[in-house]
Amino acid sequence: MSPTTGRPAIAVLLPAAEREPVIHELRKAGFDPITVDHSTALADLLATRRDIAVGVVEVEGDPEDASRAWGMLHGGRDIPALLVVNPQTLDRLDESAAGHETDEYLTRPYSAESIRWRVEAMVIRSAAVDDGSGPVLAGDMATGDWARRGQVVAVFNPKGGVGKTMVSVNLAAALTARGKRVLLVDADSVTGHIPSSLGMDGVGTVADAWRDELEGGPVLSFDEQASAHPSGLRVLALSASPIHTEILEPERVAHALAVARRAADVVIADLHPSYSPLNRAVFDMADRIVVPVTPDLPAIRAVLKLVEVADELGMRDRLSLVVNRAESGVSVADIERAIGLPAFGRIRSGGMLVVRALNEGKSLVEMAPREKIAQEFLALADAVAGIGPAPARSGLRLFRRPAAARG
Ligand SMILES: Nc1ncnc2c1ncn2[C@@H]1O[C@H](COP(=O)(O)OP(=O)(O)OP(=O)(O)O)[C@@H](O)[C@H]1O
Ligand SMILES: [Mg+2]
Repeated sequence: MSPTTGRPAIAVLLPAAEREPVIHELRKAGFDPITVDHSTALADLLATRRDIAVGVVEVEGDPEDASRAWGMLHGGRDIPALLVVNPQTLDRLDESAAGHETDEYLTRPYSAESIRWRVEAMVIRSAAVDDGSGPVLAGDMATGDWARRGQVVAVFNPKGGVGKTMVSVNLAAALTARGKRVLLVDADSVTGHIPSSLGMDGVGTVADAWRDELEGGPVLSFDEQASAHPSGLRVLALSASPIHTEILEPERVAHALAVARRAADVVIADLHPSYSPLNRAVFDMADRIVVPVTPDLPAIRAVLKLVEVADELGMRDRLSLVVNRAESGVSVADIERAIGLPAFGRIRSGGMLVVRALNEGKSLVEMAPREKIAQEFLALADAVAGIGPAPARSGLRLFRRPAAARG
């Protein structure tokens, strides 16, 4: 979204020679035009930005790549495409594509201004309500819909330092990048430091809100207590201090997490490494327990113990093993064998990148979306959200098949 006008972003896939006047015109109109060179760059962009309202795609230069880009626009969120074509190309377009109701065609020659007005019309039609306060993409930001039910993901390993916080933050960021509404709860009041690792000051705490409530303050849900990160992720901490946490009654915290599912697609709780009553209460209502494990014996032993406990509590099938620093020690296959659970996800060592992200208060997906470690978090996000990698929708074609291949 444009930081100054709050209007949506427009992906621009035009040949270098045509780009500049169009970018200029779109920017003048308050849009945030983003130049994209190739469909792979579009995939990255779509993975990290949820505010792309229209894709402007030139079809002639590299028809195959244009076709791929077009498939990506319609593959996930179904973003309308403005296709720039030569008049004679219109005949070659597949009928089903030409009938794609949200797309528009612009034939050459065109003016940059004509692109701007087409984009304006498409943005309005795609229900990106633009009242100056920022676009509200249809259905995306609905809050408090009581029929909706997201999932609660607890992130836990009884061993310290295996990457619970790192996985919580980056999984939350990756889900946000995928267009999910996410509430990230720092439920580790002893060693947790999620707000600072995301560069956020003054994030509200549940302990403060509940103390306030006792003194006559408003009754607020976790969603209402949370603070918004610029990425759209909502963040809340249970407590800023490891002492004076008596008010955080375990059953009440667990219940509030469950209620938060009504306002979020995914609620992620980063837990303290212990079998505390609070953690037990959270396990009870978590839909999934993500268990980061590093490839070393102490971490593996800790998970073996956790699996025993999980069997006793009847929650083994909710454990999702995520091998962190996956390439740096015991192999993933050996870890799977030792623990008796398949790896649900794997994350490599990020080295200096992770340190830099922490220093800059950013997630890996925001800071370096093309790096493999960011891609692994996006894949983990897709697995949690229950969606496969679907950049292009099959069955949809931009071009007609050649006559010989038909019939
Ligand atoms: N894949 C990785 N690549 C590089 N550094 C990592 C990786 N995973 C974790 N780290 C670093 O290792 C340290 C421990 O990670 P983290 O704080 O996430 O563990 P934790 O399980 O939450 O610890 P605790 O039990 O103390 O809460 C941090 O400095 C983190 O940045
Ligand atoms: Mg931690």
